[in-house]
Amino acid sequence: MSERDTLHLAHLEALQHAYSALLEAAGIDALWIYSGAPMSHHGDDQYPAFRAYGHFVHWVPMAELSHSWLLIRPAQPPLLQIHAPDDFWHLPAQRPDAAWSRAFEIRLSDDAAPPDCSATHRAVIGDLDAQQAGAMGATLNPPALLDALDRGRLHKSAHEVACLRDANRQALAGHAAARQAFEAGAGELDIHLAYLVASRQRESALPYDSIVGLNHHAGVLHYQHYDLEAPQQRHALLVDAGHRERGYCADITRTWAGPAAPDVFASLLEAMQTLQRELISACAPGVAFVELHQRMHYALAAMLIEHGVIRCSIEAAVTGGITRAFCPHGLGHSLGIQVHDVGGKQNDAGRPLPSPATDPALRLTRPLSPGMVVTIEPGCYVIPMLLEPLRSGGLAAQIDWSLVEQLAPCGGIRLEDNIVITDTGHHNLTALAQQET
Ligand code: GLY
Ligand code: MN
Ligand code: MN
Repeated sequence: MSERDTLHLAHLEALQHAYSALLEAAGIDALWIYSGAPMSHHGDDQYPAFRAYGHFVHWVPMAELSHSWLLIRPAQPPLLQIHAPDDFWHLPAQRPDAAWSRAFEIRLSDDAAPPDCSATHRAVIGDLDAQQAGAMGATLNPPALLDALDRGRLHKSAHEVACLRDANRQALAGHAAARQAFEAGAGELDIHLAYLVASRQRESALPYDSIVGLNHHAGVLHYQHYDLEAPQQRHALLVDAGHRERGYCADITRTWAGPAAPDVFASLLEAMQTLQRELISACAPGVAFVELHQRMHYALAAMLIEHGVIRCSIEAAVTGGITRAFCPHGLGHSLGIQVHDVGGKQNDAGRPLPSPATDPALRLTRPLSPGMVVTIEPGCYVIPMLLEPLRSGGLAAQIDWSLVEQLAPCGGIRLEDNIVITDTGHHNLTALAQQET
């Protein structure tokens, strides 16, 4: 058995222990986890890409399985029922034979109904309705159990970290190809296609729609289109794109200056690289992520002052909302089976930790601890919708609007790496994967 197989089986064994403890504490004898099923477009017979429920994928590295079930009982091997009806339109799901499958009792079923058992105290989690849960005699999506299971996804096993590192390696191959395509003068669609080819994935397998923004599109945080034609001038490219490996997502952003970018943009990009490195080196157990996010704002203010974009004090730029107009998103988030992974906004006891009122988009509010995997993604953008209101505010004279106009065709900068917190500090999975390519 390979080292990877050993890690995977250890992950499943730890999961069995963790679930058994939670179920026993909640007085539940049997828990069903439903993979979910695709929903067709309204009035249509076509389906958007499907991905199985995160808690299902935590056990089963087959994010494409639908209509399938897991049955978890304390001190019994998990039962995996794979929906595999005879079907000449599609290739039915196959019985897995990789080493991890030995941890399960596996049944192939042409029926989408849940496997039964004799348990009395039953619960079911997943995308089901009360009627379906009622027919199973099970409590549906108990909130305290779901919170606890979300918390259980926050700290990654060695197997999960290895998957994330592999996902990073694949994604970086895509980013290198995207950069080459940009330098060769390609437009957004062709950059996107170059990314897919080099990272070896079809579009429906991406962990999220790749963001490929040329020029001012780099300033649209989740820009969702791909222009077919290349622009006349190349100011900048922002690519935020990942890869999914055995269920686990890479989430990497790179920004490149083009030949038409003003010097100030290239200099801001360099400053952002330094800032991102500083923020990453601060990642360690016990660090409050909300404070690290706040630190990004102070450093961003200093960066904007140094480049002459703003003239006020650092304090005034942060408290007056200038830095939040240049960067309205959070410093990062938990990463795993979901690109914005679960469990990041509650403490160990399950109490909610809401985002600060100044930072509603911050998706991670708990302190860092060993095993967490997070993104560190500082940004700086020219977003007219957010900057316009500052023109009429008390700080308007503190902003060099002509420099802002010069930067506007470059859209923005975001740099994003994936970081695992260790007992003493952190490892940068993206940098480690870069060394392996
Ligand atoms: N790719 C979305 C994000 O960076 O959060
Ligand atoms: Mn991210
Ligand atoms: Mn991203």
